[in-house]
Amino acid sequence: MLSKLIKNAENKEEAIAIAELGTTYKRTGFHFDKKLEKIGSTIKYFKKNNELSFCQNEQSKTHKLIIGDNYYALLNLSISYKGKIDVIYIDPPYGKDDMGEFADTNYNNAITRDNLLSMLYPRLVLAKQLLSDEGVIFCSIDDKNQAYVKCLFDEVFGENNFVFNTFFRKTKTSTGDDKSGLNIQHDHILAYFNKNLVQLKGSEKDYKGYKNPDNDPNGDWTSGDPSARSGSDSTFFEIINPYTKRIDIPPKGRYWAFSKETLKEYIEQGRIVFKKDYPTNERGFIFKRYKSSLKSTFNPLDSLFFANNVFLNENGKDELSFVNLDSNFDYPKPTSLIKQLINTLNKQDIVILDFFAGSGTTGQAVLELNKEDGGNRTFILCTNNEKTDVNPNGIAYDVTSKRLKRVMTGECYDGTNDFKWIKKNPPLGDNLDVYEIAEVSNSEQSEGKSAFDVIDEELYGEVKMTPKDKIKWVCENFFATQKYLEDRK
Ligand SMILES: C[S@@+](CC[C@H](N)C(=O)[O-])C[C@H]1O[C@@H](n2cnc3c(N)ncnc32)[C@H](O)[C@@H]1O
Repeated sequence: MLSKLIKNAENKEEAIAIAELGTTYKRTGFHFDKKLEKIGSTIKYFKKNNELSFCQNEQSKTHKLIIGDNYYALLNLSISYKGKIDVIYIDPPYGKDDMGEFADTNYNNAITRDNLLSMLYPRLVLAKQLLSDEGVIFCSIDDKNQAYVKCLFDEVFGENNFVFNTFFRKTKTSTGDDKSGLNIQHDHILAYFNKNLVQLKGSEKDYKGYKNPDNDPNGDWTSGDPSARSGSDSTFFEIINPYTKRIDIPPKGRYWAFSKETLKEYIEQGRIVFKKDYPTNERGFIFKRYKSSLKSTFNPLDSLFFANNVFLNENGKDELSFVNLDSNFDYPKPTSLIKQLINTLNKQDIVILDFFAGSGTTGQAVLELNKEDGGNRTFILCTNNEKTDVNPNGIAYDVTSKRLKRVMTGECYDGTNDFKWIKKNPPLGDNLDVYEIAEVSNSEQSEGKSAFDVIDEELYGEVKMTPKDKIKWVCENFFATQKYLEDRK
């Protein structure tokens, strides 16, 4: 089939293009194509951008902003962060228009959704390697693409190991004037995590009903339901109130939640208490449910939790304007959304990664959460430097780094502070390391330098190495970044 197409090609260039297409695309059992990343002859590595990085306090946390294609950012992160990321949040570009330069150069196969899925697949494979066993990955996605992206997530994360859930987020309040008569007011947040290891936290349980009027040594309690849907003869019996001699049996179609023996124990322990005086329509005893025995102090996370005006798109747009910045995409996400998502993990000493960071909302959300609860969270943001009319120097230089600098230090890079946000908020503190993705030939020296000279092991959390150790470390780690994803362990 491929050779037939090549034979019929009009010229040499077309024949080469067809051959490339036929060999770089892999048909999988699924219904979309997987396109492997182009592999060059260079090693991509982190190079610190000293002008954009800043250190306010050596004792404080240092966060990271990586500028460049997130495929290489993820490959490099996999050197030091395998299994160490607790929360991944991504908000990928949805269509060819949003993918701009990126789609044109890398994925110009004309089918928008294919572009998105082809681009996401290798990145999700890498993201999975970075995610800790007890971690969770969230992905914002619009209504049009969610079904397809969900299938891709199922393929990468596996439906068996990971619990999948989709949350609905309310994106706008307006009624809209869609010709079809529909008003799409929501997008989706996909969530994947290991159901055996992770329990997501919803809103805090309301303990108003728990009190301790009888000084029970087990603490606060509330009156619980003593019946159960399933049971047997041993849990279906009469309970006689010793004071009134009135009899209780389980409600119709139900059983007691305990056997006769357990009932005795509960009475002795004071967990079941007989009433002395009570109306005829009431049960003759109280079955105490203790606050201390609650499995979780939080309600489960409701799939409509985010269907709330707090999480609207317009809030994200406002937040960016408060730091006097604007991005080309219509709606950066609101920090409220990212804060809530991070908080569902109920851990404060964690690493959060966003590899489609855009304007840097996730960074600000992490910093604000730490400020609010004294947490020790650090973020790693990756964004390319896509240039648009609004951001002629690229989003990373014009928006992401500037936003982080402003909210962390209270000042712009030029030392001025003429933005609304700082009038109402104290700077959020901490330090920022900004890395660019640089490249070096993997075989020869350029300007007298080889990969062993230019790669800085300290940017990967290593201590300075001896030349011998460095060669070994570079060979073991960086030459892997040249390989096809499928070849990697
Ligand atoms: C929808 S926006 C994310 C918005 C972000 N959640 C916020 O609140 O600002 C997607 C971003 O990912 C960036 N992007 C697209 N493809 C990328 C890639 N391969 N590597 C890094 N960044 C990429 C785009 O430039 C864009 O800024």
